[in-house]
Amino acid sequence: MNTRTWTVLRRDGVSIVLAHPEAGLPAVLHWGADLGDLTDADLAALDRATARQTAPGTLDAAWRVPLVPQESDGWAGRPGLLATRDGRPVFPRWTSAVEHEDGHGLRLAATDADSGLVLRTSLEIGAGGLVLLDHEIEHVGEGVLEVAWLEAALPVPKSADHLTQFTGRWAREKAPLTAPMPRGTTVRETRRGRGGHDSPWVTLASEGAPRDRDGGVWAVHLGWSADVRHRTDRLTEHVSLLGAGELVRPGEIRLAPGEAYRTPTAYFSWSDTGLDGVADRFHTWMRARPQHPGTPRPLVLNTWEAVYFDHDPARLEALARKAAAVGVERFVLDDGWFHLRRDDTAGLGDWEVDPAVWPDGLGPLADLVHGLGMQFGLWFEPEMVNLDSDLARAHPDWLLANPASVPAPEGLSFRTQYVLDLAHPGAWEHLRSRMSALVGALGIDFVKWDHNRDLVEAVHEGRPGTHEQTLAAYRLIARLKADHPGLEIESCSSGGARTDLGILQYTDRVWASDSNDPVERQEIQRWTELVLPPELIGAHVGPSPAHSSGRATPLSYRIATSLQGSAGFEWDLLACDEEETARITAFAALYKELRGLLHTGAVVHPETVDPALRVRGVVAPDRSEAVYTVCTTASLEDALTERLRLDGLDPERRYRVRVREEIGAAQRGWVHPQWLDGGETVLPGRVLTGIGLQLPTLWPVQALMLHATAV
Ligand code: DGJ
Repeated sequence: MNTRTWTVLRRDGVSIVLAHPEAGLPAVLHWGADLGDLTDADLAALDRATARQTAPGTLDAAWRVPLVPQESDGWAGRPGLLATRDGRPVFPRWTSAVEHEDGHGLRLAATDADSGLVLRTSLEIGAGGLVLLDHEIEHVGEGVLEVAWLEAALPVPKSADHLTQFTGRWAREKAPLTAPMPRGTTVRETRRGRGGHDSPWVTLASEGAPRDRDGGVWAVHLGWSADVRHRTDRLTEHVSLLGAGELVRPGEIRLAPGEAYRTPTAYFSWSDTGLDGVADRFHTWMRARPQHPGTPRPLVLNTWEAVYFDHDPARLEALARKAAAVGVERFVLDDGWFHLRRDDTAGLGDWEVDPAVWPDGLGPLADLVHGLGMQFGLWFEPEMVNLDSDLARAHPDWLLANPASVPAPEGLSFRTQYVLDLAHPGAWEHLRSRMSALVGALGIDFVKWDHNRDLVEAVHEGRPGTHEQTLAAYRLIARLKADHPGLEIESCSSGGARTDLGILQYTDRVWASDSNDPVERQEIQRWTELVLPPELIGAHVGPSPAHSSGRATPLSYRIATSLQGSAGFEWDLLACDEEETARITAFAALYKELRGLLHTGAVVHPETVDPALRVRGVVAPDRSEAVYTVCTTASLEDALTERLRLDGLDPERRYRVRVREEIGAAQRGWVHPQWLDGGETVLPGRVLTGIGLQLPTLWPVQALMLHATAV
């Protein structure tokens, strides 16, 4: 029996209050604002103040929704756990105990001897007030326990009356859609074996439509790189729940006695300062991780859009020289370097340098790149294999597939590639040894780790295999990094189809999208940085017109957009004229000057009225400086533009605000605001944050960069 009545967890502006019943799992009375120190009398009163009423037509008792609610608790929403033993339903009646508690986190163990189950829960308020919740179910009874799902959920108040979900497609990842909170249980799922371009990403419950800098928002994200479900339960007779869990297929999680299933971690962020508050908790937590990249994020050149599959060593060496000359610090050779890989129909799996294209191997290029003072990066797509490869010919049994679908039926192939079964020890070891050998021999500093297809009919030894595949991929990345200290890895998946906090526990940045169109990128990056801090978001200057959209944009706009992330180029710099070369050289210097601020500061999105304006700032932790970019995506509505409030500055200090012309001058209306006459102004922070600066009449698709420094 439980001996506690309540637990209070507190950290960084957030409290969680749990009530422990005599029998059953604890219930969360509160997740949200820090309630300060609470006495037992306060807690008893809080318990009563939030107690459920027994409405007519519902259960007789005033019970609470426990941490893992079930039918056996009288919960009429989606159960937290659904399991069967030998085909029969299991309705656990838990006895729980707190095993460990330290003021901001606890571990619980709950048992039910009759149903032969142990449930272990970890609930923690991490740095920044981000809440981490995961469960593990262990089978200690007889027979086979099949887990259909085990999900994490926390309560949100009924005032959270809007639901924001995310969708997307290739080159347009992470598009939000907001609607009034639907009634009943709402489940949003993905079944692609990777997050997908339309990944649920984050689910937001908010008071009204979510705003950038204001209002209550409750968010959940699942740290898992494959199939997921996000859920809300808005029932009339219960508190509302927000949660997420792994989507497993029937028969995928079958536990023999002594076996356990652990859920991915669900991350919950609450804010009363709108979306920026939600993001701030994610960023603070991410940045506090020991594995968070601690070195300045290098300026990258990636060769994909420069040469695609057309690898010519002399041209790539010339590109490396030009890259180094403008200030690039990491040169990444993309797809096309390995055996048979002249297009995307062959070669995946054969991680041997193609002597037909690289007669002397990649050693000379890697040496040149290192000699020029840059890091050397190389593209792999480890989980994939083409049937036209030595690997598939030698090991057809290493495919993660329904054998009846190999080769894929007409019309059902996917970039003509198949998935390698990483849960097969031979396949895993083949990858490890090939990749490790290349990393060692070439001194590879960085791997761009791609994943360009969905998992379809992912069968491992006759059973659904996505869960094991995902864990095996994590193990492989972890092992390579352990064997090659300092190796950095980027998670790419046809752009941003795998950017979750599961993969990011092992990797160092993501490729946010295959769209290098900066107008599209304004949206994609804005919503990617709802979870990821900008230093983890690959954002490169591409050519104009953009290859993915055909849209022409000024170089200044492309530079401003790249500066909003981990910057670089996806461009044939050999084709740049003198003026462009001078501009990108200035950009490289500006990035190096500002990245200390851009990659450690708080990201703010000052609210504006005109729908064509995208405004974003980064404020140094000590608020001594900040950089804001103002980008237009279309023509502005008003002849007299609105004022820009420089949110985040210290109202008690004075700041010099100047335009950073290094990105290139923005084209603007013929009369500009007076403060721009000298290119700068000095004002108290309270004026800049409270009244703001008159914006110039920027033309469509123009970028202005402002730098505020305390004087
Ligand atoms: C998809 C990636 O998103 C691109 O950046 C590029 O690496 C290609 N794959 C290469 O095949």
